[in-house]
Amino acid sequence: MKKNSNKKLWGGRFKKATPKIVDQFNASVGFDQALAPYDIQGSLAHAKMLQKQGVLSASEAKKIQQGLEFLLKKIQTGAFEWQLAQEDVHLNIESALTQKIGPTGGKLHTARSRNDQVATDLRLYCRDKVQGLLKKLQDFQRALLQLAQKNLDTLLPGYTHLQRAQPIRLAHYLLAYIEMAKRDQERLQDSLKRINTSPLGAGALAGSPHPIDRKFTAQVLSFERIAQNSLDAVSDRDFVVETLANLSLIMVHLSRLAEEWILWSSQEFQFIKLPQEFCTGSSMMPQKQNPDVLELIRGKTGRVFGSLQGILEVLKGLPLTYNKDMQEDKEGLFDALNTVETSLSILNLMLPKTEFNQNKMQAALKEGFVLATDLADYLSSRGIPFRECHEIVGQLVAHCQKKGIALEDLSLEELKNFHPKFEKSVFDWLNLEKAVERRQSLGGPAKQEVLRQIKETKKRLQA
Ligand code: ARG
Repeated sequence: MKKNSNKKLWGGRFKKATPKIVDQFNASVGFDQALAPYDIQGSLAHAKMLQKQGVLSASEAKKIQQGLEFLLKKIQTGAFEWQLAQEDVHLNIESALTQKIGPTGGKLHTARSRNDQVATDLRLYCRDKVQGLLKKLQDFQRALLQLAQKNLDTLLPGYTHLQRAQPIRLAHYLLAYIEMAKRDQERLQDSLKRINTSPLGAGALAGSPHPIDRKFTAQVLSFERIAQNSLDAVSDRDFVVETLANLSLIMVHLSRLAEEWILWSSQEFQFIKLPQEFCTGSSMMPQKQNPDVLELIRGKTGRVFGSLQGILEVLKGLPLTYNKDMQEDKEGLFDALNTVETSLSILNLMLPKTEFNQNKMQAALKEGFVLATDLADYLSSRGIPFRECHEIVGQLVAHCQKKGIALEDLSLEELKNFHPKFEKSVFDWLNLEKAVERRQSLGGPAKQEVLRQIKETKKRLQA
């Protein structure tokens, strides 16, 4: 970045130059240059509107348009020299425009302030990124769905308190994460309504005496709505908070999956075989294959939460309208959007190569009394109050533990000692596959129910 201190575009009333450290402190161009394409898009719309309203002549508007298009190319090829002394992306582009096309460039800022400009840019940026994330979430669900279809008949223990609880299908487990991603998608989709609101034309805070047409610029920029109050338009960063909250929730879900698979990939579980190319080794211990990618997804979740907390703190004490504090809205948002985008991209590549260890899951099912509830359900289906069944099976579990056997190993005689209502048919209930199949309640793990969930999900993801 060039550091030569050009004349400031707001310098009219200033007699003293700002010290370098103030320039550096004040500047946002180091990070807000990411807004450049949106800044130019907004300026093009604004210039077009000024021409339509007779504020700019056709030739002036044309000159501005060509100048902006020239600068966009220069920025995209990396040839643009960003200047710290020009503070931010807006002033950098405006001063470069004037350098390129002469004093006409100075007309672009008619009826506009950086306050409505930056709000416009950030909304356009956010809209783009959120739309990109919607697609990534869609791909994520597709990848999970494929894993579910591939592992339809694999059974494993479902857990509560990280203790083996009841047998489920692996596909059923994977479908649970699809549900989370679906809600994440719905939330982002809903937030677009509010992100997609045009603040352009609010000026610094109080609109403009020029005959501007806010509906026109909103339309050109494909905004769905127009911010209805100019004070609110320049000071509203709710959409940043909302986006960061939505991103945080996505990361909660990804982090839970990451944590679970880190555990599952441990020697203690061995439920999952992570693709080697998504793991790394240790510089000292030659045997190690560490699940770094998943650990980083879990770890980076904290940064996203931090950005949400950060923007809430920035906004909570601000009087209306714009305050420079609000420049702090960007880095956290950019970082969080990139973090979520990258985390999803990596998972989308990793999921198709992930394998599950059916034997280990089967072995885990054999221990831990995962059919205890089924045994109680058997008794209760024979008219005994469930509370009583629970007590009896509890005693049976203790009995088995003492003998070092599983519930399935009990003889009918032994069972009858605990309750006379036990009959031969009980062994039908002490069968893992049948236990899962019996759970046909809506949303449950039985094959036909899981197939229904898969079918519905497939239909939704194709639409
Ligand atoms: N760089 C500023 C920001 O990101 C742009 C708006 C500056 N407005 C102002 N009145 N100083 O918030």
